[in-house]
Amino acid sequence: MRVTVLEAADLLRIGNVVGVATETVYGLAASLQYPVAIEQIFTLKNRPANNPLIIHVADISQIEQFTESLSPEFLQLVAAFWPGPMTLVTEVLTEKIPTKVRAGLTTAAFRIPSHPLTLELLRLTGPLVMPSANLSGKPSATSREHVETDFGSDFPVLDGGTCFKGLESTILYFNQERWIIIRQGSLSPAVFSPILGYTPLVEKPNSEERPICPGQLFRHYAPQAMLTLGKYFTGKEKQVIVGFSDRVYPVGSVVYALGELSKPETIAQNLYAVLRQLDLDGVAEALVDDNFSSEGILASVRERLTKAAAK
Ligand code: TXA
Ligand code: MG
Repeated sequence: MRVTVLEAADLLRIGNVVGVATETVYGLAASLQYPVAIEQIFTLKNRPANNPLIIHVADISQIEQFTESLSPEFLQLVAAFWPGPMTLVTEVLTEKIPTKVRAGLTTAAFRIPSHPLTLELLRLTGPLVMPSANLSGKPSATSREHVETDFGSDFPVLDGGTCFKGLESTILYFNQERWIIIRQGSLSPAVFSPILGYTPLVEKPNSEERPICPGQLFRHYAPQAMLTLGKYFTGKEKQVIVGFSDRVYPVGSVVYALGELSKPETIAQNLYAVLRQLDLDGVAEALVDDNFSSEGILASVRERLTKAAAK
C-alpha cells in the first residue's frame, strides 16, 4: 500500500515498520528508537538474529553521536561516495546502538542513500535501520510490488519507483590497516582506488570462521526454482534459460532475459525482478547462462547468481 513521505515518517515515529525505496533495493525500515519495531523486522523477514542491520542516515552528523571518532579515510570515502550505494562499518559506542541492530558486534554499518525520497524521509525521522525488504534468503525487492508480494498488499510502502541501481550497496570494512569489501554491490572495487591508493580486496566468506559480514554466509537471493550456472544445451527442448537479450539461444527454450550484456547496468537493474518472475511463473528449474565477463558490476551480478544457485 502506497504511503506518502509524511505518512511514512508518522508511521515510523510511532514505532511501525515501513517499506522504503532506495536507489539500491527497497528497505524494511524501523526507527532506531523503537526496539519493538526492530524486533518486528527480524520476525517479518524471518531473519537470523546473528545478522546485523545497516543504519541509514541523512547526514554524517547523525553518525558522529554513535562513534568516538571517524578516521580521515572514512571521511574521504564519505566525501567521495555518499549519498550513494556504499556502506561503511566502523567501531561504535555500543551503549548508543541496540544490541539487536549490531547482532552483538562492537561495530555497526552505516549508509547515506542517494534516492531523494529516502533522504527526505530520513531528514524527518532521524536514523533508520533498513535491511532489504524481502523474506530472508529470497530475492531482494526493487519495486513496491515486490515488497507487497512478500509482506502483503496492505503493508505500507514509500514508493520511489523501480530502483535505479538494482543491487545492494557495497560494504567496506577496515581490517589490518586496509579496507576490504565484505559484500560486493553496486560499486565495483576499482572505484575506491583513487581515494584509497589501492583496490580493496573482496573478502571470501569462510564458514569455518566467524564471518566479518554475517549475512554473507547464507544461501541468498534465491527463488524457488533450482538454478544451475553453466552452458545451455543445443537441441534440448523447453529448457528455461536465464540469459541476456542480446544473445541468441536454442529454438524452443524459454528465455528470461536479465538485460543486455552490452549494457551491464540494465542487468543489475533487472536481476531481482527476473528471479522473482521465475517464482510467479512457477518455474522449478532453470539454467543460468554464466558465459559473461566478471568486469565491473557484472562481478556483483555473478556473485548474486552464485548465491541464488547455492544448495
Ligand atoms: O543497499 C543496501 O545496503 C540495502 C538498502 C536497503 O540500503 N540494505 C541491505 O541490507 O542490503 P541487508 O540487511 O539486506 O544487508 C546488510 C548486510 C548483511 O549482510 C549484514 O550481515 C551486513 O550488512 N552488516 C550489517 N552490519 C554489519 C556489521 N556491523 N559488520 C559486518 N557486516 C554487517
Ligand atoms: Mg538483504
